[in-house]
Amino acid sequence: MAYSDLRAFLADLGDDLRHVRDEFDPRFEIAAVLRGLPAGAPAVLFDNLRGYPGTRVAGNLIASRPRLARALGTTEERLAQTWLQRKEHGVPPVVATGAVPVKEVVHRAPDDLLSLLPILTHHEKDAAPFITTGVVLCTDPETGRRGMGIHRMMVKGGRRLGILLANPPLPQFLARAEAAGRPLDVAVALGLEPATLLASVVKVGPLVPDKMAIAGALRGEPVELVRAETVDVEVPAHAEIVIEGRMLPGVRELEGPFGENTGHYFSNVSPVIEVSAVTHRDNFIYPGLCPWSAEVDALLSLAAGAELLGQLQVLIGGVADLELAAGTSGFSAVIAVHDCTPADVRRLVMLALNLDRRLKMVTIVDDDVDIRDPREVAWALATRYQPARDTVVIHGCEAYVIDPSASGNAASKVGFIATRTSGAESDRITLPAAAAAKARALIAALLS
Ligand SMILES: Cc1cc2nc3c(=O)[nH]c(=O)nc-3n(C[C@H](O)[C@H](O)[C@H](O)COP(=O)(O)O)c2cc1C
Repeated sequence: MAYSDLRAFLADLGDDLRHVRDEFDPRFEIAAVLRGLPAGAPAVLFDNLRGYPGTRVAGNLIASRPRLARALGTTEERLAQTWLQRKEHGVPPVVATGAVPVKEVVHRAPDDLLSLLPILTHHEKDAAPFITTGVVLCTDPETGRRGMGIHRMMVKGGRRLGILLANPPLPQFLARAEAAGRPLDVAVALGLEPATLLASVVKVGPLVPDKMAIAGALRGEPVELVRAETVDVEVPAHAEIVIEGRMLPGVRELEGPFGENTGHYFSNVSPVIEVSAVTHRDNFIYPGLCPWSAEVDALLSLAAGAELLGQLQVLIGGVADLELAAGTSGFSAVIAVHDCTPADVRRLVMLALNLDRRLKMVTIVDDDVDIRDPREVAWALATRYQPARDTVVIHGCEAYVIDPSASGNAASKVGFIATRTSGAESDRITLPAAAAAKARALIAALLS
């Protein structure tokens, strides 16, 4: 079942969404809550924002596997499979025919973004409030191809935003516009239903190069688009908020510091957007996403994790499952294998580390290990891995932009092979099946 918009998803969550009626400040206080919520905690809707009467902030929306599964209308067990199968065939967007909620209120040439939107300030040393879950949309000036991705944006005062363009294709689109001496029209969609948000951070392939068509495929229904008010960009009709503007040619300014998804502050010299309009729904919901939080882990677990799993399963037999380690911004993965030869396990390490440019560390375990339980993974590493024998290091790799430990080509990657020695029987201690089942029932009751 496709959710028509963010509100439909929230309405469907029931007790898995908690309302916060006490007053919270968009400066630090909301981010502190979003950071503090443990994995699996409910989604939250802040109904009472200091300084922004009548507006709301939603957060922690897909920060659990059950909610991720709900967002795609599938089960936890079938999450990766559903993601991989659906995005094989695009469902192109359509022109919105009925009402266009995102244009219920239109502000042209707003003087001050912060007086309109409760953009969160996240960390103590952040230079300003940052938009962290804005899906930036634009069109390649040369080919007409759509660009779509999450990019952090710094509120620079008035109607100016700094934008980090570290990933393709937006930097290339801007370069082409600049070569022609023109600005690049952009629109930033905020408050999308989760499948469209997930599609915005997927790596596109040649078969379905438009992320909006991937969003349609993940939803099982096309996304409805409408032309923006002041720029030549199509925007989702059911977003909560759209910011329209132009990336200024030849302009670069300091952007940051900002506490990033790796848990460290970063600054860049980045392009600047001059905002030409803000449109939004009545009583809009601003989406909060705190960097280095469980929700970032969840976003990456499909867009990076399931992606890599799908690629590896095509290349090597016996790859059973893959999970990205929480809190590592996709830098560390655990892969479970079944009946893989030692040679194939080594190839797997090399392939995984090379296919995903973010990935810096990979641990390979047998599929008797629960890769979503850090205790089990630590056990496999502690008892099945021999450092001198089972470590693979790759030197001279490209550094990822938000990895503070690397610079230029001084980056390296590592694989830890924590599988049983070839041919060995499972060496785990076990319990009789009947006693284990009885214990599971009791434990479930004790914890309920
Ligand atoms: C939470 C989050 C924040 C991101 N922030 C940025 C950003 O500020 N700048 C950027 O260029 N890419 C950012 N990205 C990545 C882009 O959205 C990118 O299009 C997407 O991850 C796929 O690109 P890939 O080819 O690097 O995998 C972010 C991704 C996520 C999940």
